Amino acid sequence: MAKIHVTDREGRKLDIDAKDGLTLMEPLRDVADGVEALCGGMCSCSTCHIFVSPEWSAKLPAAKDDEMELLQGSECYKPGESRLACQVRVSAALDGLSLVIAPAE
Ligand code: FES
Repeated sequence: MAKIHVTDREGRKLDIDAKDGLTLMEPLRDVADGVEALCGGMCSCSTCHIFVSPEWSAKLPAAKDDEMELLQGSECYKPGESRLACQVRVSAALDGLSLVIAPAE
Protein backbone atom coordinates (compact mmCIF):
# COMPACT_ATOMS: atom_id res chain seq x y z
CA MET A 1 0.00 0.00 0.00
CA ALA A 2 1.24 3.46 -0.83
CA LYS A 3 -0.21 6.85 0.04
CA ILE A 4 -0.20 8.99 -3.10
CA HIS A 5 -0.64 12.76 -3.06
CA VAL A 6 -2.69 13.82 -6.06
CA THR A 7 -3.48 17.20 -7.57
CA ASP A 8 -6.39 17.00 -9.98
CA ARG A 9 -7.05 19.11 -13.09
CA GLU A 10 -8.86 21.72 -11.00
CA GLY A 11 -5.92 22.08 -8.65
CA ARG A 12 -7.65 20.20 -5.86
CA LYS A 13 -5.42 18.09 -3.66
CA LEU A 14 -6.35 14.67 -2.35
CA ASP A 15 -4.58 11.65 -0.94
CA ILE A 16 -5.35 8.19 -2.22
CA ASP A 17 -4.32 4.75 -1.01
CA ALA A 18 -2.93 2.65 -3.85
CA LYS A 19 -2.69 -1.12 -3.44
CA ASP A 20 0.53 -2.95 -4.24
CA GLY A 21 0.49 -4.71 -7.58
CA LEU A 22 -1.99 -2.35 -9.22
CA THR A 23 -0.88 0.38 -11.54
CA LEU A 24 -1.27 4.03 -10.53
CA MET A 25 -3.95 4.34 -13.21
CA GLU A 26 -6.42 2.13 -11.33
CA PRO A 27 -6.93 4.21 -8.16
CA LEU A 28 -6.66 7.41 -10.23
CA ARG A 29 -9.49 6.22 -12.49
CA ASP A 30 -11.70 5.64 -9.46
CA VAL A 31 -11.53 9.16 -8.00
CA ALA A 32 -13.83 11.97 -9.08
CA ASP A 33 -12.22 13.89 -11.96
CA GLY A 34 -9.49 11.27 -12.16
CA VAL A 35 -7.89 9.90 -15.32
CA GLU A 36 -10.11 8.54 -18.10
CA ALA A 37 -7.86 5.59 -18.97
CA LEU A 38 -9.81 4.91 -22.15
CA CYS A 39 -7.65 2.01 -23.32
CA GLY A 40 -7.84 0.28 -19.95
CA GLY A 41 -4.11 0.28 -19.40
CA MET A 42 -2.94 -0.99 -22.79
CA CYS A 43 -0.51 1.92 -23.28
CA SER A 44 -2.33 3.16 -26.34
CA CYS A 45 -4.45 6.21 -25.41
CA SER A 46 -2.41 8.50 -23.09
CA THR A 47 -5.56 9.56 -21.19
CA CYS A 48 -3.81 8.47 -17.99
CA HIS A 49 -1.07 11.08 -18.43
CA ILE A 50 0.33 12.35 -15.13
CA PHE A 51 3.19 14.56 -14.04
CA VAL A 52 5.37 13.08 -11.32
CA SER A 53 7.35 15.48 -9.18
CA PRO A 54 10.99 15.57 -10.28
CA GLU A 55 12.32 14.12 -7.01
CA TRP A 56 10.06 11.09 -7.44
CA SER A 57 10.45 10.75 -11.17
CA ALA A 58 14.07 9.67 -10.78
CA LYS A 59 13.04 6.87 -8.41
CA LEU A 60 10.58 5.25 -10.82
CA PRO A 61 11.55 2.57 -13.34
CA ALA A 62 12.32 4.23 -16.67
CA ALA A 63 9.54 4.52 -19.23
CA LYS A 64 9.70 1.97 -22.04
CA ASP A 65 9.78 2.99 -25.71
CA ASP A 66 6.03 2.68 -26.34
CA GLU A 67 5.24 4.82 -23.28
CA MET A 68 7.78 7.45 -24.31
CA GLU A 69 6.38 7.55 -27.83
CA LEU A 70 2.88 8.34 -26.58
CA LEU A 71 4.10 10.89 -24.05
CA GLN A 72 6.28 12.72 -26.55
CA GLY A 73 3.27 13.02 -28.86
CA SER A 74 1.26 14.75 -26.15
CA GLU A 75 0.73 18.53 -26.30
CA CYS A 76 1.55 18.84 -22.61
CA TYR A 77 4.58 16.53 -22.47
CA LYS A 78 7.02 17.52 -19.73
CA PRO A 79 10.41 15.84 -20.03
CA GLY A 80 11.43 14.26 -16.75
CA GLU A 81 7.92 14.50 -15.26
CA SER A 82 5.46 12.97 -17.71
CA ARG A 83 4.40 9.36 -17.20
CA LEU A 84 1.49 7.17 -18.12
CA ALA A 85 -0.14 6.08 -14.86
CA CYS A 86 -1.00 2.69 -16.36
CA GLN A 87 2.69 1.94 -16.78
CA VAL A 88 3.73 2.61 -13.18
CA ARG A 89 3.27 -0.35 -10.86
CA VAL A 90 2.43 0.44 -7.22
CA SER A 91 4.61 -0.79 -4.40
CA ALA A 92 5.39 0.39 -0.90
CA ALA A 93 8.40 2.16 -2.40
CA LEU A 94 5.99 4.72 -3.89
CA ASP A 95 4.60 5.73 -0.50
CA GLY A 96 4.49 9.54 -0.40
CA LEU A 97 4.72 10.06 -4.17
CA SER A 98 3.23 13.33 -5.45
CA LEU A 99 1.65 13.62 -8.87
CA VAL A 100 -0.51 15.96 -10.92
CA ILE A 101 -3.10 14.73 -13.40
CA ALA A 102 -2.20 16.19 -16.80
CA PRO A 103 -4.72 18.35 -18.69
CA ALA A 104 -7.15 16.52 -20.94
CA GLU A 105 -6.31 16.77 -24.66
S1 FES B 1 -4.80 3.94 -19.84
FE1 FES B 1 -4.46 4.26 -21.95
S2 FES B 1 -2.34 4.69 -22.02
FE2 FES B 1 -2.73 4.43 -19.92
